[in-house]
Amino acid sequence: MSAEAAPAAGAPLAEVPADANQHCPGTSSDQAGKSAACAGCPNQSICATAPKNVVDPDLALIAQRMSAVRHKLLVLSGKGGVGKSTVAAQLAFALARRGFEVGLLDIDICGPSVPKMLGLEGQEVHSSNAGWSPVYVEDNLAVMSIGFMLPNPDEAVIWRGPRKNGLIKQFLKDVDWGALDFLVVDAPPGTSDEHITIAQCLAGTSPAAGPGAAAAPAGSGVAAVIVTTPQDVAIIDVRKEVSFCRKVGLPVLGVIENMSGLATPLEGCRIAALRPAAADGADGAAAAASAAAAEEEEDVTAAALAMLAERFPGRRFELRAEVFRQGGGADRLCADMGVAMLGRVPLDPALGAAADAGRSAEGPAAAEAGEGAKVAAVAAGASLPALRAVVGRVVELTEGARAKAAAL
Ligand SMILES: Nc1ncnc2c1ncn2[C@@H]1O[C@H](COP(=O)(O)OP(=O)(O)OP(=O)(O)O)[C@@H](O)[C@H]1O
Ligand code: SF4
Ligand SMILES: [Mg+2]
Repeated sequence: MSAEAAPAAGAPLAEVPADANQHCPGTSSDQAGKSAACAGCPNQSICATAPKNVVDPDLALIAQRMSAVRHKLLVLSGKGGVGKSTVAAQLAFALARRGFEVGLLDIDICGPSVPKMLGLEGQEVHSSNAGWSPVYVEDNLAVMSIGFMLPNPDEAVIWRGPRKNGLIKQFLKDVDWGALDFLVVDAPPGTSDEHITIAQCLAGTSPAAGPGAAAAPAGSGVAAVIVTTPQDVAIIDVRKEVSFCRKVGLPVLGVIENMSGLATPLEGCRIAALRPAAADGADGAAAAASAAAAEEEEDVTAAALAMLAERFPGRRFELRAEVFRQGGGADRLCADMGVAMLGRVPLDPALGAAADAGRSAEGPAAAEAGEGAKVAAVAAGASLPALRAVVGRVVELTEGARAKAAAL
C-alpha cells in the first residue's frame, strides 16, 4: 500500500483508489486484483471478484443533472478543522450576493456543518416529481445536506463507505438543483470514500461555459478549492490532498490559507496589565513558577483605548498577530506544487460568530439590509476584505476578469 502510489500507464485515475499499490492497473481493468502489481494490495480480493467493465447507470443520470451546473467547486483539505465548511458557506453566500445562481452541497455525512452555518437548522427536504427539493436560503442559494434528513441532529451517523457513496450519488442525481452557475461542495477532511466518489461522479461532467471559460481549469467545470492553515501539520496534509486531486484527475483551482494570523478590532479585546507578585525568598525555577502563578492582573482596557483615542483621534484600532507561524507555508506549498494561491483569511472572532449564527460575514442580503446589515458588516470587518479578495479570485479563475471586476 502506498499513499503516493502511481497507477500503471493508461489506467484511468478515477479507478485508482488512494490506497492502491504502485502501478495499479485500475479497478475496472481485466487485470484488477490479478496483476502482479496487485500483490498485497488491501483491495485485492474485492478487485479480483468485482464485475468488470460494468457501466454505473447512476453516472449517466448524474452527468445529465450536472450538465446544468457550470462550475463545481469542491472545498477540500487533508486536515480537519481548518475552516472548509466556513469557507464553503461564506463562498456560497458571497457568490449568491453577487447575483450568481448557487448551490451548496454538504457531503460531510458524519459531521454535517452546513445547516448550522447557513442558518437552516431544523429545515426539512421535500420531494416532488422533479426529485428532492433543496432548502433555499434565498431565491438563488439552494442547500442540501444529510443534516436536513436526520430526526435527531445529536445522533451520530455511523455509515460504512458504500452507504455514504450511495447518498452522495443521490445528492447529485436526485436533487432538483435547477440551472446553477456554481455548485460549492463542502467535504469532510481527508482523501477517503466520499472524496473518491464525488471526484468520480463529477469527472467529465459539463465543461465550464461562461464568458471566462478560457480561464477556467483546463477542459473541466470541476475544480478543487483547497483550504489549509499555516501550521506545518496542516500544510503536510494539504500536500497529500493536492497529490490526491492529481491522481483522480481533479484540477486544483487554488489554495486558501485560513486562520492566517489574528485580526480583530481592538475594541473587542481585553487588555490586562500584569503585576508580578513579590517572590518571598524562595530560589530558582520554583520561585519563578510560584511568582507567575501569583501574578496579579488588572483590566486596563478602557484606559488603554482612551489613551489610543486621544493619541490617534478618529482612528479605528485592530489587533493583528501571527498565531501559528509567520506566513510562507502555503506560499511554498503553492510554488512547490504549481497551484494558485487564492488568498489568506485571518482568524477573526467575528467570522467565527457569523458562522455560528448561520449568516454571511457580509451581513444580510441587500433585500433585507437595514441597520442589521451595517452592524454585521462592521463586526466582521477584520476578515471581510480578505474574504472578498478570495471570492474575487475564485470568480476570476472561473468566470473571467470582467466578472471579477463586477464581483468586487
Ligand atoms: N478565519 C476564521 N476566523 C475565526 N473562526 C474561524 C475561522 N475559520 C474557521 N473558524 C471557526 O473554526 C471552527 C472550525 O471551522 P470549520 O467547521 O469550518 O472547519 P472544517 O475544516 O470544516 O472542520 P471539519 O474538518 O470538522 O469539517 C468553526 O467554529 C469556525 O467558525
Ligand atoms: S488490487 Fe485493485 S486497487 Fe489494488 S492495485 Fe490491483 S486493481 Fe488496483
Ligand atoms: Mg466541515
